[in-house]
Amino acid sequence: MLVGVFATKEEASAFAAKHVASTITAAENPVLGVATGSTPLDLYRELRQAHADGTFTLENAKAVALDEYVGIAEDHVERYRNVLSAELVGADKTGLADERLYTPDGSAADPFEAASQYDKAIKSTGGVSIQILGLGSDGHIAFNEPSGSFVSRTHVEALTRQTREDNSRFFDNDINNVPSLAITQGLGTIMEAQRIILLAFGENKADAVRELVEGPISAAWPATILQMHANVIVVTDEAAASKLELKDFYNDRLAALYRS
Ligand code: GLP
Repeated sequence: MLVGVFATKEEASAFAAKHVASTITAAENPVLGVATGSTPLDLYRELRQAHADGTFTLENAKAVALDEYVGIAEDHVERYRNVLSAELVGADKTGLADERLYTPDGSAADPFEAASQYDKAIKSTGGVSIQILGLGSDGHIAFNEPSGSFVSRTHVEALTRQTREDNSRFFDNDINNVPSLAITQGLGTIMEAQRIILLAFGENKADAVRELVEGPISAAWPATILQMHANVIVVTDEAAASKLELKDFYNDRLAALYRS
């Protein structure tokens, strides 16, 4: 696992965008794994800018979402399909075609069946070239909450109170408006991505980042499974990295390998 600690989230996101863009541009069958939440928004802005500059495009790519709320209205602005579409779809964004944006069907009458269909749909893309991940303050990735299986496939998950509180800022600050179920890629599904880049910013991610990078692998902190993936970069700002013991070493190593 490589770790990069940057002074600001903007610098971190610019680094992440370059890594994502070079991976997608070099891929024979480009498939970008996309995350929601506020963390990747600067990265998406960088990708839109690169598209406007003519140095990057998702025109020939597919994009695969991590998760979707169950039962959220199709026109709800926080429905993850709508969020990702607003960030990425269209010639004025990144060139991604709407029909090549894959998201779980949170409106399906049978969400369990929709989860299993989504796992098949991901496989049908040929596999994710690079997966962008955020990090929950409780250590979740996608919506894999503590105590889930490390080999889980796409499934229906119940959200912790902590996650619903964290996400209530997107739902008029009312936890009761936050759906309690989601369809999420499983940890086993996520681990099949060829590369993973995880972003974490802000002090409230510091405990989860410490566990992710320096803690034992434990279902109590689902993101720790990433220690078993051979190609992961964790990109943070200073606040999220504030509880790491070997921060200086991580930056020296990343500089030696990546930063010029
Ligand atoms: C949500 C998403 C995750 C995201 C996480 C962090 O619950 N399902 O994919 O990584 O929360 O969100 P944020 O980036 O807003 O802190």
